[in-house]
Amino acid sequence: MQKFVITGGAPLSGHVRIAGAKNAVLKMMAAAVLTDEPCSLRNVPKISDVAILREVMNDIGFDVRRSNGDGLELQAREATWPFVPLEAALKMRASFILLGPMLARFGRVILPNPGGDRIGRRPVDLHVMAMEAMGATIAYRNGYYFASAPPDGLKGAHIRFPTVTVMGTENAMLAATLARGTTVLDNAALEPEIDDLIAMLCAMGAEIERSGERRIEVQGVARLGGAEHRVIGDRLEAETFAIAAAITGGDVTLDGIDPVHLAAFLEVCDRMGVQYEADASASSLAIRGTAHTELRAVDVRTDPYPGFATDYQAPLSVLLTQAVGASTIHETIFEDRLDHTRELVKMGADIELLDERRARITGPTPLHGAEVGIADLRAGATLILAALTATGTSVISGIEHVDRGYEQIEAKLVALGAQINRIEA
Ligand code: EPZ
Repeated sequence: MQKFVITGGAPLSGHVRIAGAKNAVLKMMAAAVLTDEPCSLRNVPKISDVAILREVMNDIGFDVRRSNGDGLELQAREATWPFVPLEAALKMRASFILLGPMLARFGRVILPNPGGDRIGRRPVDLHVMAMEAMGATIAYRNGYYFASAPPDGLKGAHIRFPTVTVMGTENAMLAATLARGTTVLDNAALEPEIDDLIAMLCAMGAEIERSGERRIEVQGVARLGGAEHRVIGDRLEAETFAIAAAITGGDVTLDGIDPVHLAAFLEVCDRMGVQYEADASASSLAIRGTAHTELRAVDVRTDPYPGFATDYQAPLSVLLTQAVGASTIHETIFEDRLDHTRELVKMGADIELLDERRARITGPTPLHGAEVGIADLRAGATLILAALTATGTSVISGIEHVDRGYEQIEAKLVALGAQINRIEA
């Protein structure tokens, strides 16, 4: 088992390259299932979620391999074994994104119910609803979904999501690309990772357009071709490094990220008094941690994009421990995503849980090193940020969660001047 040992206090400075977006590339890997032609992805992050999905796809019978540093070559000639094993789904829920493409292209697939995780129940009923609306038959037995399409394939449908769902929107959109006729998705998600997926699918020959407030229209086609696509920068990784700069009082420039995608986070930075320079033409964002004297407390509520992302919430909570006054966080997307606050309190933070979705954070409170454990990906980044600003040394366990979504985080932090080591324990 590995742990991070971090000694806090060093102001970070320099440039950091932001990797490709985890929540875009996983869906693009699934998109390659829709054609028998080769697909190439660039700017693919070196994270374990990509490795897990690559393994799952190769087990199904596809050919997915890494190439030249940040590349991925994919070809889905045939599905010898259309089955996603439980252990893969337990490691990574996003393997459920194979449902739509497998049904649309091969007409059948067996997938485990990915179940909930530390942040919430996370049902997949809306994914199933969308596939059934397109004519699929989905039976649930012994923890597995047995899904099959009609002999003449899926058909277009008008689907309205009662709740905005990112992967639900993506699964339905992927399936609709090869369905007969037109599919309309209403109350669809607007995340930039979805627009990047749409760009790749259109390069493959799909006919997709956003045609109004939260509406996506897909005109099904007979077949799709291969494509080359460069993945957008990861706004969630960028937010983490932005906070690392602000909380250590350092000056850090994030390269390879479109600041427009971080608008909701930068709006909070404006209210708090975090100084930054955004340069969309250069795909860079510079955080001037040395420039701010006092951070102001703020109230933040999470919402689907373009609102403040739920994935931003935990890392931001550390910064709020250093703001003057009482801040509140209202988590509206997941019912159990404030767990990390317990570990922050162990490090000296003044956080009161008002209920399962609201927390009050009072600051500024100096944080101190401690032994803490990570329960999920963003909570992991949060504890690393807390340790970077704490006096003394922290030991963090459960870091495999961080490796799921952050490429070489300790190497990037060391290059900015942090004292962090990965140890075998
Ligand atoms: C995606 O998860 C992201 N994961 C999550 O990022 C992110 O937190 C989430 O979107 C919200 O932005 C990936 O893209 C791989 P949802 P997803 O469906 O698609 C409910 C990270 O840290 N719901 O938009 O699974 C659900 O319970 C991860 O990178 C249903 O009720 O999230 C939640 O309350 C964590 N039924 C809400 O909708 C369904 O069938 C939004 O979830 C589907 C969802």
